[in-house]
Amino acid sequence: MLDFSRLHLPPDSRVLLTEVQIQSRVQELGVQITRRYWGQRPVFLGVMNGALCFLADLLRAVDLDTEISCVQLASYIGNRSTGELRGLESLAGSFAGRKVLIVDDILDTGFTLAELIKRLHVLGAEDVRVCVLLQKQRLRALPTRADWIGFEIPDAFVVGYGLDQDGRYRGLRDIWVPAAAGRT
Ligand code: IMP
Ligand code: MG
Repeated sequence: MLDFSRLHLPPDSRVLLTEVQIQSRVQELGVQITRRYWGQRPVFLGVMNGALCFLADLLRAVDLDTEISCVQLASYIGNRSTGELRGLESLAGSFAGRKVLIVDDILDTGFTLAELIKRLHVLGAEDVRVCVLLQKQRLRALPTRADWIGFEIPDAFVVGYGLDQDGRYRGLRDIWVPAAAGRT
């Protein structure tokens, strides 16, 4: 019997959010987002690769006529933010006059989302909102805020449910704090 719960995490890693907690919260978000967009046809814009699992689950938790689009953005190497956003040029599709819901894994410094929102407005989006699964608790002000937040979490580096460390651990069903991978 395969055990998908921890894959290849180092020993002493710990679970922060279980699969059951995540799935139940995604259903709640689905209800709220359905109410907000009822009768409209929003574009769900997934920020890859981190939002992979969240986008797939959220899409099936709403009762809406949605379209999806994805953009591949990266600002992290390992567990550190480089402060340099790569991939904004891969934003494809027509957003003019559309209502866009950005779906992302985690709001950390907010730098990634702030840049993406600016670009969507330049492309003529009529309305841009943000749904993140996680938001790290930080003392300083963020350059952007999310309209829907799944969970507020401590300022630790996390993996699983789409989130990676150098490309690894995205397939974990729970969200973990990997051992010896704290923010340096
Ligand atoms: P921000 O621009 O600092 O808000 O960073 C946002 C992006 O960095 C997220 O969409 C993630 O892809 C990545 N990121 C930030 N914190 C973590 C983490 O704890 N684990 C994995 N990826 C993270
Ligand atoms: Mg991301």
